[in-house]
Amino acid sequence: MIKIAPSILSADFAYLRRDVVMVEEAGADYLHIDVMDGHFVPNITIGPPVVAALRPHSKMVFDVHLMINNPDRYLTSFIEAGADILTVHAEATLHLDRTLRFIKERGVKPGVALNPATPLSVIEYVLPLVDQVLIMTVNPGFGGQRFIKEIVPKIKALRSLLIQEELEVDIEVDGGINPETVSEVVRAGANVVVAGSAIYRSENPKEALATLKRAAYIINNSLSHKER
Ligand code: DX5
Ligand code: ZN
Repeated sequence: MIKIAPSILSADFAYLRRDVVMVEEAGADYLHIDVMDGHFVPNITIGPPVVAALRPHSKMVFDVHLMINNPDRYLTSFIEAGADILTVHAEATLHLDRTLRFIKERGVKPGVALNPATPLSVIEYVLPLVDQVLIMTVNPGFGGQRFIKEIVPKIKALRSLLIQEELEVDIEVDGGINPETVSEVVRAGANVVVAGSAIYRSENPKEALATLKRAAYIINNSLSHKER
């Protein structure tokens, strides 16, 4: 089952609640929340108080993407704020195994993210611990960037590895996803699709979400008949 995760990075921050409710009504599965610290990435966004403020207004899965150095310092705050999935970057923490276990032990789903240049091998030994691997298809920091097509083989390789190891882990893709690129990533094996500008910067966000979902489902249905 494919899941669509609109990224609020491209929402109107002055009308955040309205923009969150809008995508929920349009059938979004996850709400993708991009947290940036101005160190790990060259941009600053939002923190736990904003997540906590949105929590009572939505039943969506809160998919929190931490683009921050030393995420350990803030895990408890994001868990208390209402994160359902908490994703840390493999590049941002020295003791990835410890970080992921900390999240898991607190009843939240741990995710691990990889920048475009980071190989899959760095997560090989923590794969059994995670619920989700986030493959970045842009260099993190900003919405509206161009999809890096060279990353498609990484998605394929991860899907093969998960099948081989018989692990039930979601593959989320993030960056430059639109109705064209979504087909490529779903064909490669992704099953959670983040989209910021393709939804929020379109003239009709609800329709844009539906279009994206349709494109993803068509490819996925055609795949489910075959061996990946
Ligand atoms: C980028 C963020 C993304 C961003 C995607 O660093 O992690 O989630 O919002 O935006 P689009 O879909 O516009 O590339
Ligand atoms: Zn993100």
